[in-house]
Amino acid sequence: MEYKYAMNCNYEDFASGRVLYNVSGVPNFPVRLINEIYGRCLGYSGKKEEICLYDCCCGGGYSLTVLGFLNQGSIARIIASDIDFMMLEIAKRNLSLLSEEGIKRRISELESLYKQYNKESHNEAIKSAKKLLNMIQKEIEVQVFQANAFESIELDVKPDIIITDVPYGNLVDWQGGTGDVSCLLESLKNICSKETVIAVSMNKVQKINTKSFIRLEKQNVGKRKFEIYKLAE
Ligand SMILES: C[S@@+](CC[C@H](N)C(=O)[O-])C[C@H]1O[C@@H](n2cnc3c(N)ncnc32)[C@H](O)[C@@H]1O
Repeated sequence: MEYKYAMNCNYEDFASGRVLYNVSGVPNFPVRLINEIYGRCLGYSGKKEEICLYDCCCGGGYSLTVLGFLNQGSIARIIASDIDFMMLEIAKRNLSLLSEEGIKRRISELESLYKQYNKESHNEAIKSAKKLLNMIQKEIEVQVFQANAFESIELDVKPDIIITDVPYGNLVDWQGGTGDVSCLLESLKNICSKETVIAVSMNKVQKINTKSFIRLEKQNVGKRKFEIYKLAE
C-alpha cells in the first residue's frame, strides 16, 4: 500500500510504555498506519475539522491518543469505549495526556522516576513528553465509557469518523459477542449518520458482509487489512 497521508518519519516519541502507558502483552497499532487510516477517512469525510472520532474497541486508547496528538488541526472530540474495565483505566490515563495538565503530570511522574532510578530510558521519555506537550494546540474533549460493541451503544452525537482495530483472536479476544465483524458493523449502524466514515482493521481471515454499508476502500498491509465504509443510501 502506498502511504498518501502519513509521513515516513520517526514516531519513537509515541513508543508504547515511553510516555504513553502500555497494556502488557498487547502490541500497539503501528503509528504511521493508524495515521494513514485516519487521513484516508478524513479524505472521505465531507467534514474536515471539528471531527468527532470514536473507537468502539479502544483497548488502552493507544491509537486514539496518537491520533489526537498528530491531528490537532482536525480532531475536536474523542470518544472511546471497550468492554473491558481494565483496558478503560489505561485508555483514560493515555487520553488524559492530550491535555496540557495531563502531559505535565506525566512529565513530573517521569522526572521523579528519573531522580529515583537515574535510568536513561526515563530521561529519553521526559524529552519525548516535552515534545508531545509542544504538539498540543488545543483541548480535545474526551469521553471514555464501558460498552459491548455488539449491543446498542448510547452516544449523544453521531461520530464523524469511527476507527477500530478489532480483536484478532491471538492476544486479545472478543468478549460478549460472536466476533463476527459484520455484526459489529450492523450494531454501529445506529450511531452513524449518512456522513460517518468507518474504518475497521482486522486480520485477513475476518470478513465483512453487509448490505447496510458500502465499502469505499480495502487495503492489505502485512498481516492486517483495513476496510473503510459509509452507510448505504
Ligand atoms: C486489538 S484491541 C484494540 C487496541 C486499541 N486499538 C489500542 O490502541 O489500544 C481490541 C479490543 O477489543 C476489546 N473488545 C473485545 N470484545 C469487545 C466487545 N464485545 N465490545 C467492545 N470491545 C471489545 C478488547 O477488550 C480489546 O481491548
